[in-house]
Amino acid sequence: MKVAFFDVHRFERKSFDAANQRIGHEIVYFEPRLTAETAKLAANFPVICAFVNDRLNEATLEILKKEGAQLIALRSAGFNHVDLVAAQKLGLKVVRVPAYSPHAVAEHAVTLLLALNRKIIRANSRVRELNFSLEGLVGFDLCGKTVGILGTGRIGSIMATIMKGFGCQVLAYDVFPNPELTALGVKYVTLTELYSRSDIISLHVPLNETTHHMINEKSLAQMKSGVFLINTGRGRLIDTKALIASLKNGHLGAAGLDVYEEEENIFFQDLSESGLQDDILARLLTFPNVLITSHQAFLTQEALNKIAEVTLENISSFERNEELTNEVKASSI
Ligand code: NAI
Repeated sequence: MKVAFFDVHRFERKSFDAANQRIGHEIVYFEPRLTAETAKLAANFPVICAFVNDRLNEATLEILKKEGAQLIALRSAGFNHVDLVAAQKLGLKVVRVPAYSPHAVAEHAVTLLLALNRKIIRANSRVRELNFSLEGLVGFDLCGKTVGILGTGRIGSIMATIMKGFGCQVLAYDVFPNPELTALGVKYVTLTELYSRSDIISLHVPLNETTHHMINEKSLAQMKSGVFLINTGRGRLIDTKALIASLKNGHLGAAGLDVYEEEENIFFQDLSESGLQDDILARLLTFPNVLITSHQAFLTQEALNKIAEVTLENISSFERNEELTNEVKASSI
């Protein structure tokens, strides 16, 4: 089928080209992000392939539909950037890649935690300037600490298992507790208990109406002083202004962020020459105890290969009029 790819990056093209040699869709790669302004590029393409920072709101979807789209194939697990109600109303099917490598994301969450705790970035810059002093580099043993995992689906459950391996006590909160984790010694508790007992909190819930800004002034105040917060979920799980306030008054010990509320026009782009217009992100970047990566938790070769294969297979299933096992509907929210 003719597929219009939006927000295409060099790092993913190799995997898609390789997978498509076997599958044989007619792919056209577009660099711009998909918005109502760029949607017309996809005129006469029955399939639109979108990424996490494309804006699939009602206005964009209406244009896509008018231009002949039938299927939105997301090359991501998250689908919070799609107005599923509007898609359904317009008769547009939406498919996604539910699990490509939950290990990639959980391992990145651990990477952020370890780098922050042992001050690796700071230590590395110092050593490169031939400053071999250890002042200001004191971390803590992870073994024996309490880790709170918010959301124990595919990624959160791997995170819980890894942290168990470090000798941590793992607390969890999920609307659907996982008995396999309970058997491993993970303890499901209330949100209030998780906030008040955890030394480290890692976010792995999807973004939806109930989880939007769940980390806010009130929840931060319930957390232990010095808590480390890791977010590889979605930026809007955190009220960034409240996060900054908590960093400023020293309550929050550190924040490791792979996602940011307003990342849409920033992440995945090289702004090194044009500069940063976002004052909130600019403020976040001034804290020595904040580590930010640009939504790269998924970025392993294994994950990229799987994303390519599943995305193209999702499109093939649609072409063959088969049942769409990876379809997301408004009722999935
Ligand atoms: P999943 O669907 O397997 O797990 C999500 C878990 O959250 C489920 O167990 C669900 O019951 C729970 N949950 C949902 N709403 C909740 C609520 N209000 N309170 C408590 N628990 C709730 O999803 P998966 O694959 O583990 O991914 C989690 C999130 O990670 C995705 O939604 C996506 O936003 C993010 N992600 C980030 C990536 C990155 O590169 N930074 C890559 C892939 C996913």
